[in-house]
Amino acid sequence: MNIIVTGGAGFIGSNFVYYELKKHPEDRIICIDKLTYAGNLETLEAALKKDKFKFIRADIADRRAIYRIFETERPDIVVNFAAESHVDRSIENPEVFLQTNIIGTSVLLDACRKYSIDRFHQVSTDEVYGDLPLDRPDLFFTEETPLHTSSPYSASKASADLLVQAYHRTYKVPVTISRCSNNYGPFHFPEKLIPLMIINALSDKELPVYGTGENVRDWLYVKDHCAAIDLIIRKGRVGEVYNIGGHNERRNIDVVKTILKELGKPESLIAHVADRKGHDRRYAIDPTKIHEELGWEPTTKFEDGIKLTIKWYLEHRDWWMGIISGDYQTYYERMYDQRAKMEYAKI
Ligand code: NAD
Ligand code: DAU
Repeated sequence: MNIIVTGGAGFIGSNFVYYELKKHPEDRIICIDKLTYAGNLETLEAALKKDKFKFIRADIADRRAIYRIFETERPDIVVNFAAESHVDRSIENPEVFLQTNIIGTSVLLDACRKYSIDRFHQVSTDEVYGDLPLDRPDLFFTEETPLHTSSPYSASKASADLLVQAYHRTYKVPVTISRCSNNYGPFHFPEKLIPLMIINALSDKELPVYGTGENVRDWLYVKDHCAAIDLIIRKGRVGEVYNIGGHNERRNIDVVKTILKELGKPESLIAHVADRKGHDRRYAIDPTKIHEELGWEPTTKFEDGIKLTIKWYLEHRDWWMGIISGDYQTYYERMYDQRAKMEYAKI
């Protein structure tokens, strides 16, 4: 089979490329990636040595380029990871989120229609459901939870989901959608909570916790997400949405304290800074459907996954040092100097 993986030079997409190359060595993987600030060819170094892997630099919103690739590569399956993925950046500048996440997805759907693929899989997020209150631990997102977005990022992802469903209903494009909770693991770009805190702690820099740090995320080790997507594209029912998550809910402040403890660093490094605008309080997935239909369940507990992740960052300093020495510095100063000035009352 020929599988197009978009966004394969990013965090989850690259983990998926490696997962597929190992699990299905008979399949050909064609990675399309624009190589934005979040894409990194070094991440794909080992994959680039394999005959069954091909990398093409292209923008998913570039219709001519995408049609040309479909014409040449004749994919059976398309898995769309390509996206602008960082909520804080979407709050600062929504436009590129609309362009990539909505227009880009629509171009891919048109290509799938034109070239009659067997499956288009949209990698979506639990953020499309909005958030849950902190004082109702009994509530979870199911596939029936109404879409109710908070940030320009989540609004763009929800718009893409609606387009995917519309192309299925109207043009019979064979689609599936997965909505996953927060991932962590190797190759996670250091603008996101877990890698940012590991890297700052290693450099004895402040750990900027938004607001009180009581917001809750449902953490999933990235390989478990890849395993779920692999099952959905091969065995999932066309037209269906599958939620992916593993009941690993943690408050941000507790995640940060765990990282400090693992690294033997003091909690005095924690700095409560100005909160994210519109900050979602709690995400929590009910994964019953994917468990019952496809037999998926997560294999990595948070206690183990966080140790593996910290070990990976300790052993791959070259990878993240390369990232944080460039434009990332400008981003960090712009995003965090401002927050620190509005320092949140210490709790
Ligand atoms: P990421 O930001 O690490 O990687 C995104 C990749 O997409 C990068 O390689 C980037 O170069 C590429 N890209 C961006 N715009 C592009 C364009 N116009 N054309 C082609 N390539 C482009 O993102 P991630 O964290 O790996 O997330 C991957 C997908 O999974 C996204 O769709 C995201 O919404 C979804 N998701 C992420 C999480 C999470 O916790 N990170 C959880 C659930 C769902
Ligand atoms: O739930 C899935 C989503 O998870 C994905 O769709 C997104 O692409 C992905 O980025 C992630 O979104 P979050 O906003 O939850 O992740 P982030 O790592 O940015 O933040 C996690 C929590 O930590 C959130 O409550 C904000 C907080 N935070 C984040 C950063 C970067 C801090 O307190 N300090 C920080 O410096």
